[in-house]
Order: sequence, then C-alpha cells, then structure tokens
Amino acid sequence: MGWKTLDDMDVDGKTVLIRVDINVPLEDAQVTDDTRIKRIVPTVHEVLERGGKAVLMAHFGRPKGQVVPEMSLAQIVPAVEKCLARAVHFIDGNYAATLGQLEPGSVALLENLRFNPGEEKNDAGFAQRLASLGDLYVNDAFSAAHRAHASTEAIARLLPSCAGRLMQAELSALESALGAPKRPVVAVVGGAKVSTKLELLSNLVEKTDHLVIGGGMANTFLAAQGIDVGKSLAEHDMTDTASEIVQKAKSVSCTIHLPSDVVVARDFKAGAANETVAADACPADAMILDAGPATVARLESVFETCETLIWNGPLGAFEIPPFDAATNAAAAKAAKLTTAGKLISVAGGGDTVAALNVSGAADAFTYISTAGGAFLEWMEGKTLPGVAALES
Ligand code: 3PG
Repeated sequence: MGWKTLDDMDVDGKTVLIRVDINVPLEDAQVTDDTRIKRIVPTVHEVLERGGKAVLMAHFGRPKGQVVPEMSLAQIVPAVEKCLARAVHFIDGNYAATLGQLEPGSVALLENLRFNPGEEKNDAGFAQRLASLGDLYVNDAFSAAHRAHASTEAIARLLPSCAGRLMQAELSALESALGAPKRPVVAVVGGAKVSTKLELLSNLVEKTDHLVIGGGMANTFLAAQGIDVGKSLAEHDMTDTASEIVQKAKSVSCTIHLPSDVVVARDFKAGAANETVAADACPADAMILDAGPATVARLESVFETCETLIWNGPLGAFEIPPFDAATNAAAAKAAKLTTAGKLISVAGGGDTVAALNVSGAADAFTYISTAGGAFLEWMEGKTLPGVAALES
C-alpha cells in the first residue's frame, strides 16, 4: 500500500482538513441512517486527541455547482454533533477568517463543497483554496474516492496527505476480500441489470472461484440458456453478453451459480401469492421474484467450502417480503460461518447494506463497506482517483 496513515503524521497543533462522506439519507430534515457519520468518528477523535483542529469537508447530494439550500450541510450538523459528542462549527461563508478563530480541539464543517463548481471539476484553484485552510489533508471518504474532485484528488497533491482510519479500514477489508484473499473465494452479485454490472462480472470471474448470480440479473442468464422466464425482469438484448461471461468463467475455472429453483408471482407487491418452481418452469404470465430453497441450500454448501465471501446486491426482490427470503437465508448462513471464524465476509453497495441490515446479518459480517459506487468500481478492478492521489 503506497499511502500514509495517521500514524505517519504529526497532527499536534495542526489544522487538519479531513474529507469525509456524510452524504446520508434525510427525511423531514432528520438523518434516517447515520452509519456514515458514525464511521468517521475514530479519525476525528484521534485528530482532536492528538492536539489537532479538525476541519471536515464534505458533499451532500448533487447540487451541480449551485447553491441549493435543501442540500446544505447545515442540516446534518446536529447528527454530526451527536455522533462526535461535541460541538461542530458550521462554516458557510468566509472559510479562512472563521477557521482562524477556532481553538485546537475544535471541529468545523465546511458548507457543501459541491455548491462550488470547482469541486466536481477537480479545479486546481478551488483545491488550492481548500488546501490553504489547513496544514495536513486526511482522506476518510472511501465512498467518494471514485470521484476525481478537488477535495478528493487535487488537494491530496497540495498538502502532506494520508488515509484516515475509515479509509484504511475500507481498503484493508477490500484487499482481504479481493486483492489478496484467502481462497476459495465466492462472490454474490445481485441486482436488476447485467448491463450495469458487466465490468463487475467480467472482473469477478477472473478473481473468484464461485460467482453466485441473483436478482433480475440471474433471469438474463437463464434466458441466455434458452429458458422462458415469463414476465420476469430480464434484459433480452444482453443474453449474448451473459453467454460470453459464462464462457469466460469456464475458461478460468470460475463456477457460476444460477438459481435452480425460483419463487414466482403474478403481482409485484408485498405478500403476493407465490409458488416455487424449477428455474425452467416459470409460467408465461408470472415473474421470478426470488431464488428458491433448493438454490439457497446449494449456496449455503458453497459458502461452507469457501474462506472468503464478497457480496454486492440482493438475490431477490428483497424490498417486498416474502421475496427477501433467499437473501435473508444466505446472509444468515454467511453470518453464522463468519461468527464461527470460518469465513471472511465483506459486503458493500447501497441496496446490499440495506438488505443485510434488514436480514439482521450485517453485524456479524467481517466488514460492511459504507460505499455504494466506489465499492462497485473497486470490485470492477478500477483505480479510484481518491486512493491513487494518496499513493502518488
Ligand atoms: C455516495 O453516496 O455513494 C457518495 O457519497 C458519492 O456520491 P455521488 O455518487 O453523488 O458522487
């Protein structure tokens, strides 16, 4: 790993600019999931305990370089104060003057960086302006590291820079899951569309021993085998691509696991009447909404043979019970093996974390990433600009 950590930095008496990702869900001005905020606490507290002043820099939503009051980070301040258990000075005006008045041991949060068009353009001038506010730069926003923005990329080249504790934890968890994992490795990939996860699937067949395909994506793979999937969500124009992925997997000895039985329904709604049928027996007027129990049993036995599991995407329509059953059962099995010390389990991506939280299995996983898009891009084998900038 070519990047520094807080262990390499002297923060005493310094103003430390910490890029965090507190892009959290809000409903009626209340943060509904503060996981991302909780995860930045160790870095911020460490900086303060070691005599530094912490200046948090973050984005919220996608205001596209405009001031959009509904996307002000001011709304997040109470949640940040609660998680950090201390006051946070919110700075929306003249950054430099206000920061100059803060004592060591203080925490400040700058207004949404994306209100400035320079942020998303990775503009050198805006990065310089941010850099002039501090002595050191700490990037603790793995979940924004796939963006080459002024506060994630350009600034890292202007100040002594390092990874924060959350960034460090994310990178080492991902390294243990896919970089240099204990083998065999199983990847579970679900979600609606093959087209959005093509690069991911191509990379995973090369890196893993077993690739479990679930969700709507599995229907496209079944259709590629000439199976009639009725009214199921499937990308019929992607069947050739699906067949190519299957061929590629064969050539590199990665076993692809598709559902052998499926749960079908006529209505896409919670509690819809449903039945379990063989994967090649979906009625013409029904749709596949989950993997069946025989499929789950097979996945469980695959998990038992593996040392490492990486998970992205639910196996079925997990948001409408009972079509969350396969996801819940497979997650419970992964959690059990992890608790028994038999499996390293790492999961990430928006829906995935929500699904694992609902299943109650998330706490037992070895690591749950806070990242959505960045987790996917990392799994695709891409270089993340925010990480590369720390390495240079
Ligand atoms: C996320 O929510 O995944 C990160 O905060 C990145 O947000 P973005 O997709 O708007 O860049």
